[in-house]
Amino acid sequence: MESLPVPSVQAMVAATGGADVPPRYLRPAEAVTGIVDGEGEAQIPIIDYRRLLLELDPRGEESARLHSACQEWGFFQLVNHSVPADVVEGMKANIQQFFQLPAETKKRFAQERGQLEGYGQLFVVSEDQKLDWADMLFLYAQPPERRKTRFWPDQPATFRSTLDRYSGALKDVSDSLLATMAKNLGLKRETIAEKCTRGMQSFRMNYYPPCAQAEKVIGLSPHSDANLLTLVLQVNHVQGLQIKRNGSWLPVKPVPGAFIVNIGDMLEMLTNGRYRSIEHRVVVDPEEERLSVAAFHSPNTRATEGARGGCRRGRRRGVWDGGAWEAEGALLGDEAGGGKSFLERMKLPSRSSS
Ligand code: OGA
Ligand code: NI
Repeated sequence: MESLPVPSVQAMVAATGGADVPPRYLRPAEAVTGIVDGEGEAQIPIIDYRRLLLELDPRGEESARLHSACQEWGFFQLVNHSVPADVVEGMKANIQQFFQLPAETKKRFAQERGQLEGYGQLFVVSEDQKLDWADMLFLYAQPPERRKTRFWPDQPATFRSTLDRYSGALKDVSDSLLATMAKNLGLKRETIAEKCTRGMQSFRMNYYPPCAQAEKVIGLSPHSDANLLTLVLQVNHVQGLQIKRNGSWLPVKPVPGAFIVNIGDMLEMLTNGRYRSIEHRVVVDPEEERLSVAAFHSPNTRATEGARGGCRRGRRRGVWDGGAWEAEGALLGDEAGGGKSFLERMKLPSRSSS
């Protein structure tokens, strides 16, 4: 999997003032606006991590709310998480400083041919594909031996140590959320936990420059995440994330200090669709830049190898016995194809048709 090199949107905006939008970024009007549900609907559920895990939930009320959030929404905001404020604030400051570096400095960490890791763009597969109004930095962080530190910025000087701490803390949160979800699904805690021991984690750090014609571009095309569980940190106050809900796009209003958590395609498959991986997108602000840090969590390679074996034997996918899934090319959504294409690809033709 690789992505074709494309210009930095940030550099383009800096050079031109951002008034002119090149045709490769222009979307048809309905693609950007769609039907946006501003006020009509409730916001995504808020889950309190402290209540969930620190035995402050004797009657299982918070667990039940988590279960229904996963079934009904596929998205929730996690408050009172255990990640120390200095770790979160450090991550925010470092990624903001990274994107403020001169273009030449950032290019030292640019993606190489045939690689996803590094500074650039993901899922650019053809010269005439529409492009997203964003730059990003993509890095593997877990298990630690997967790290290719040559793509990890050494400026600002604290970037690597900050990401190292942030990575470990988020992996812990993801693991314990998955364990609670397993319990909620009537499974042993270990059912998912053993798949996630030394599981994979990658980061996509997004920079969405402002666009004078914001209504004509998209920051991140509609997609679902292909992994198990994503934790998104909103870095500044600018909103932009929208989720598909009852046929409309619902803007997410981030709660300060919360992580936005969403179910990925693998978890939808593993739960036979009980938990839902929801399509989402990012729109751009006309005046202000927006930054976010998405952490993607996937099973370990041992679990996925078992799964591939299962698939070869023609077992049904989407079940809990490990015959359900594979991780190849699936660390992120297949955004080039748009929509929930990874999930569609993984589904077997229905039995009656064979
Ligand atoms: C992603 C994503 C949301 C955001 O990186 O997959 O959906 O708010 N990001 O940037
Ligand atoms: Ni996403």
